[in-house]
Amino acid sequence: MNGWLAALLALLFFSPLAFIYARSFAGRVQAGASARGRSVAATALPKLVWPLVLGLALALRLSGSDLADWQAAAGSRTLATLLSLLWFLGSLAAILFFVTIPFVLGRLLGTLFACMGKFSATRDDPLSFGARGFKRDGSEADGQESGRMGFTVAIDGPAAAGKGTIAQRLAAHYGFAYLDTGLLYRAIGRVAHERGLDLDDAAAMGEVARALDPAVLDDGSLRGREAGELASRVAIHAPVRAALTEFQRGFARRPGGAVLDGRDIGTVICPEAEVKIFVTASAEVRARRRTDELLAKGRAVDYETILAEVRARDERDSGRAAAPLRAAPDAALLDTSELDIEEAFQAACRIVDASPHPRNGA
Ligand code: DC
Repeated sequence: MNGWLAALLALLFFSPLAFIYARSFAGRVQAGASARGRSVAATALPKLVWPLVLGLALALRLSGSDLADWQAAAGSRTLATLLSLLWFLGSLAAILFFVTIPFVLGRLLGTLFACMGKFSATRDDPLSFGARGFKRDGSEADGQESGRMGFTVAIDGPAAAGKGTIAQRLAAHYGFAYLDTGLLYRAIGRVAHERGLDLDDAAAMGEVARALDPAVLDDGSLRGREAGELASRVAIHAPVRAALTEFQRGFARRPGGAVLDGRDIGTVICPEAEVKIFVTASAEVRARRRTDELLAKGRAVDYETILAEVRARDERDSGRAAAPLRAAPDAALLDTSELDIEEAFQAACRIVDASPHPRNGA
């Protein structure tokens, strides 16, 4: 059987696999494009370089000609060396054809799908335990009644106090949905920065917030330090906060219960929340934790710089006019300075368990 026939058969054989990969690739490209405010084509293009090189190498290898003939025709030494490299790659691609073919085909097909707007990332929401995705108002996507206030746990506190971990663990423990509201501000900061907008322009930031596509929240890099700084700057604007209010309230009212963490959940977003916890820790402890976390990830950081960042962020979050970071008068205070994460989680569970409001009919 000649090489081309084998390739054609492999193509047919692997097309279902390539299709599955194409769907997920199309979703990722569209989410990436909207996160960075770029066109789908511009986002996909750099991701096509490797598949195209591999496809070309495979075609060269399967063409049946001799490398020596190609090199003789090449004329220059550089081109001949490049051809040898391509030939070598082609040999590898042919040996690993069961990976190469779905990869090349999947990316090409995925790009086509993405450009046609097909298979955009569905919100099987990574922020939410047990949730099936949400609409812009945060209500359940499957049409369940959302007007009734569910059991809401509002968690606020300064950066790096441990509220995110506590909130996630509470949500998993009680089977509630979880929303990290900081991600919303991070996404707005990131989109605005990437579009070259002025982060101090309240009206422009408000527009970015109103147009925010929840798909951008899937971008894992949003949890990084830089996005946190951008978030803290855009979060001072009242139009930004106003644009996000309904979405967060809708999320909090989910019938199955919800945990939200942020800065103003207990004071502004859900003043009626059944449980409010203000998680805090000294700036020094928070800076130490963050430094250790970053060092463990191999980042070159020093404690003093992180401490200065933590203090600056505290000042910005607490000193702003719009919804400043404050503990609600009826919030339970949870100081984690002397606690490890397990102790902090247990303390938070005790606060939730002490609530007189029934949880999910319990
Ligand atoms: O929780 P975080 O580090 O992801 O938050 C990033 C920034 O977003 C924080 O500095 C202040 C802002 N933020 C806010 O103003 N209100 C919220 N509910 C959540 C975050």
